[in-house]
Amino acid sequence: MELTVKPIKPFQSLISVPGDKSISHRSVIIGSIANGITTIENFLPGQDCLSTVRCMRQLGVDIEQTGLTGLKVKGMGLRGLSEPDNFLDVGNSGTTIRLLSGLLAGQEFFSVLTGDASIRKRPMARVAVPLRQMGAKVWGRGGDRFAPLAIKGGPLKGIHYPTPVASAQVKSAVLLAGLYADGETAVAEPARSRDHTEKMLRAFGADIEVEGLTTVIKPGELSAQKVTVPGDISSAAFFLVAAAIIPGAKITVQKVGLNPTRTGILEVLEEMGAGVTITNQEESSGELMGDITVLGSSLKGVVVGGAMIPRLVDEIPVLAVAGAVAAGRTVIKDAAELKVKESNRLKAVAVEFSKFGVDIEETEDGLIINGGKKLTGAVCESYHDHRIAMACTLMGLVASGQTVVKDAECIDISFPGFEDVLNKL
Ligand code: S3P
Repeated sequence: MELTVKPIKPFQSLISVPGDKSISHRSVIIGSIANGITTIENFLPGQDCLSTVRCMRQLGVDIEQTGLTGLKVKGMGLRGLSEPDNFLDVGNSGTTIRLLSGLLAGQEFFSVLTGDASIRKRPMARVAVPLRQMGAKVWGRGGDRFAPLAIKGGPLKGIHYPTPVASAQVKSAVLLAGLYADGETAVAEPARSRDHTEKMLRAFGADIEVEGLTTVIKPGELSAQKVTVPGDISSAAFFLVAAAIIPGAKITVQKVGLNPTRTGILEVLEEMGAGVTITNQEESSGELMGDITVLGSSLKGVVVGGAMIPRLVDEIPVLAVAGAVAAGRTVIKDAAELKVKESNRLKAVAVEFSKFGVDIEETEDGLIINGGKKLTGAVCESYHDHRIAMACTLMGLVASGQTVVKDAECIDISFPGFEDVLNKL
């Protein structure tokens, strides 16, 4: 599917976006190993989360869909999953393969996880190494570095694992395995990554403590909960940036997740000169949510790096759109992780944005953008990466003439209905 995009005039709009991808995955996985029935509202019916549902069903969990975005998960308890009779296909989903690796490390049975061409290129040693230290058997292709991954779990021992990458997927894999260990398991991160797993496990009754950058979990049973998934700030970000880069535009996105480990994009947009306000804050299943309003303005370039990167790791392609429009230089550094996402996002952004006339350079660990140049419409590749497809679409809103985004069906991975929301503007 191709998306054709034309420039947009200043707009004022009130929208909402689908449920948070990270929280949706966790609600199904954690609900599946809790005791009792977990009900989930505003679940994201994107391809990635549907992959998690499919895999959990293959592990014997009864998951019923209730309406468009509701799920009822009949929890099996920690020891109730059963050996799948075929490989588990995670599709394009890094969160599914890494979190399930941790879960499967605690199961006595044999399982195989694999996914699409992108997933089979993404690094898996980062989860295999700590899970093996805990006592699981984990094999992978290419010297145990890539999927397919074969896992034979069993009795695990608690470890103290200092992870070299600030990755919520790695942290979550170890914490889920920690539920099955013979004692306490600790994960220490170099910088704080999103903490949805910790928050949800605590809401389900797990014994989990966070001190500084270290999270400690003790084994124990979980009890089913009612989960309401907030709107995904990473999806909202496309519309927040669309308003931010158009002076006179205004957008309000309702009921968006405001977990501080995810709100880096709001702070950076404010620093660039956009107006950002938050109203109607409330808490649901341990997660903050509220309405975000952004007022467009003439933006200025910004330097983003260090501990801020994990707080906006998925927003870097869309932040680059703001950088392309802003006056002056935008530097994104300490972001080498972007090379191992659904695509090499540093390269993809640099190559595709330069087609619009953006002065952009890919560096070892980031991007340098000299913003404010004249932008003209282009024909873009998506690299089958949802966030690249949406970032290129946004470029089309501010570039003169017509923009075409090829292979745009991948947007369904995280944001079914993106085109409809866009058309509302
Ligand atoms: C996610 C964590 C991040 C993020 C991904 C979702 C999660 O990946 O990029 O889209 O749900 O835990 P890393 O943890 O590998 O940085």
